[in-house]
Amino acid sequence: MAKKFYITTPIYYPSGKPHIGHCYTNVLADVLARWHRMSGDDVFLQTGTDEHGQKIERNAKEAGLTPKEYVDKMLGPFILLARAYHMSYTKFIRTTDKAHEAYCKKVMQKVYQKGDIYKGKYEGWYCVDCETYYTEKDLKDKKCPLHGREVKWLTEESYFFKMSKYQKQVAEYIRNNQYIFPKTRQEFLLARMKEGVTDLSISRSNTTWGIPLPFDKKQVSYVWFDALLNYTSSVASPSKKKYWPADVHMVAHDILWHHSVIWLSMLFAAGIRPPKKLLVHGFIQGEGGLKMSKSLGNVIDPIHILQAYPADSIRYFLVREIPFGQDGAFSMTALRDRHNNELVNDLGNLHARTLSMIEKYYNGKIPRSSKNELVRKFNFKQVDTYIKKYELNTALAEIWKFVNECNRYINDNQPWELAKTNKKRLDIVMYNLAESLRILSIVLEPFMPVTSDSIRKSLSLKKKETFKHLKFGVLGANKINKGGYLFTRKEEEEEMPAKKTAEPKAKLEAKNDQPKPVGVAKTGPYIPFVEWQKMEFKVGKVLKVGPHPDADRLYILVLDMGPGERERQVVAGLREHYKPEELLGKEVVVFTNLQPATIRGIESEGMVLAAESKGKVTLLKPDKQIDLGAKVR
Ligand code: MSP
Repeated sequence: MAKKFYITTPIYYPSGKPHIGHCYTNVLADVLARWHRMSGDDVFLQTGTDEHGQKIERNAKEAGLTPKEYVDKMLGPFILLARAYHMSYTKFIRTTDKAHEAYCKKVMQKVYQKGDIYKGKYEGWYCVDCETYYTEKDLKDKKCPLHGREVKWLTEESYFFKMSKYQKQVAEYIRNNQYIFPKTRQEFLLARMKEGVTDLSISRSNTTWGIPLPFDKKQVSYVWFDALLNYTSSVASPSKKKYWPADVHMVAHDILWHHSVIWLSMLFAAGIRPPKKLLVHGFIQGEGGLKMSKSLGNVIDPIHILQAYPADSIRYFLVREIPFGQDGAFSMTALRDRHNNELVNDLGNLHARTLSMIEKYYNGKIPRSSKNELVRKFNFKQVDTYIKKYELNTALAEIWKFVNECNRYINDNQPWELAKTNKKRLDIVMYNLAESLRILSIVLEPFMPVTSDSIRKSLSLKKKETFKHLKFGVLGANKINKGGYLFTRKEEEEEMPAKKTAEPKAKLEAKNDQPKPVGVAKTGPYIPFVEWQKMEFKVGKVLKVGPHPDADRLYILVLDMGPGERERQVVAGLREHYKPEELLGKEVVVFTNLQPATIRGIESEGMVLAAESKGKVTLLKPDKQIDLGAKVR
C-alpha cells in the first residue's frame, strides 16, 4: 500500500490581494507534494482561506459588505493564485465551510468538558492585523512588532484555554521529535517558551463574526483557535482519517509560535496526535532586501507577473534563488538572469539542439542504443537526499549539474561530426541525449510541471512517468514531436507590461530630440534602442582552433565564456586573416544570443566580432584586463 503524505500550507486571510509570499509557500509545498507523488506516495495537499476574525470584519465594513459577502468576493484571487501556479492541491478549505464549523464546535466542547477552558477577563494589547495579543514587552515603540501598527487595549470577558498546562509536554515533543526545521528556528522557539507560556484567550464577545462557542452562544471563537483546526477538520471523515497526523506543515516564521505552542497544546488537550514536522521558510523581501510595501512601490503581485513570465520560471526562481529557511529578495533582474541563463540557455538549448539533431539526422525518429554513457551520470539519490533534508534549492542545483553535463556531452561528442564519420557512435550519443531529456522531464516535474509535460510530449511519450521510470533504456524508436522552444528569452523592456510609462515617448516628441529619419544617415538605418538591448555580447577566450573541413575560409573556434558558462563553438571566417596560433588564447568579443546556425554542416553558436576595411580584418578585443564572460554594454 502506498505511504500517505499529508502536507499543508497556512490558510491565508483573504483580506487583500494574494502576495508573492503566499505564492512562495504554495510553491514550496507543491514541490514537496509532487516529489512524494512521483515517489509513489498517497499525497494529500491542503491549502485554503482563513475567513473569520476582526481584520476581515473591519475590511468588510469598510467595503460596505457583510463579512460573508466580503470573503466570498475576496476568495477568487486565492484560488486563482493556486491554479495559475499549477498547485496540485487536494483540498482548498474555507473556514466558513459548514463541515469545518461543526468540527470546531465538537473540539471546543471536548476541551471545555475536559476542564481546559475557563472563563476570565482579558486585558491586553491586540493587533488586529495579526489577530494576536502582545504583552507590553513584545511591543516595539508601543506598536505591533510585526506590522508597526497601532495596537488596541482590549478588556473583555473571555474564555481562556489552559495553554500553560501544556508547556512542558509541548517543549518535550518539539525537542524529542525535532519538530521544527530549520533547527535555528526550533532553538529560538524553545528559548522563547522558557520565558513563559501563558493561558490563551480564545473567545470574543464584541463581535459575531466567528464560530459561536458551543457552551456559550454569546461568544465566538478566537480566529486562530478555529483556523488551526482546519488541518484536522478536513481529514476527520472516516475515509480521510488515514492522512492524520500531518507529515508537514509549511509556514513562514511569522506564524511559528501559533504552529508550535498554540497548535500542539490544542491537540494535546483534545487528545489528537500531533503533526510530524513544521517547516519554517524565510520571508520574501523586495529588491535590495527591503520589506515589500506599497509605499516603496516594490510589491510583486504574483498574478500580474504572470503576464511577463511563465509560472514555471517563477516557480524555478523561487525555489532556486532562496535557500530554504532564509529570507531572500525577489528581484526582477535576478529573475530575468535565471530565466535567460538557466532556463533558456541551459535547459532550453539542450532540448532544442537534441530535437533538431534527431530531426535532421534521423528524420525525427529516435535511434536506439543500449550503451548508457550519460544517464548514469545523473545522481538521483543525491537529489532525493537533498529533498528529504528540505534543501530544495540544492536539489535543483544538483539537477542542473546534470543539465550542464548533457550540454558538455554534446560539445565533446560533436554529433554533427559523427553524422559524417561515425553513424554508430551518433546513435549512442543521440539516444543518450533523448533519454536524458526524458529523465529530466521526470525529475523536473515537481519544480516545473508544465515544462516537464512539454519535454515529455516532444518525445511523444503518452503516459506521465514517475520515479519508477528513471532507469536507462525506456524510450523506444519514437517519432519526436519537435514543437516550439521550451522558454523564450526575456528582455528588460517586456518585463512588466502594465508598468510601462508614457515618459520615453514624451521625450522623443520634444523638438530637438527627434530622431533622424530612418535611412538617410550615413551609418545606415537606425536600430531602436530596444533592439540593441536584445543583443548580448560577451568577452570570451579562444580555447581551440581548427579548420572547417568543408570551407577554405572558415575556422571552427571553441570559446571559453567564463566560469559556470558552457564552452561555445563558433564558425568564423578568419582563415585568410589569422594563423591558428595567433588566435589561440586570444580574448575576443562574442555575439552570444545570435540564433544558432549550421554553416556547411558545422553548428555555430554565435559570432566573433571583427572590424573590416578594404579586405583587411582585425578582431575586436578588450582594451584592459577583464573577466571572461563580461558583458559588453
Ligand atoms: N491566516 C493566518 C494563517 C492561519 S494558518 C492556520 C495567516 N494568514 S496570512 O495571509 O497572513 O499568511 C501568512 C503566511 O503567508 C506566511 O506564514 C507565509 O506562509 C506567507 N507569506 C505572506 N507574506 C510572506 C512573505 N513576504 N514572505 C514569505 N511568506 C510570507 O497568517
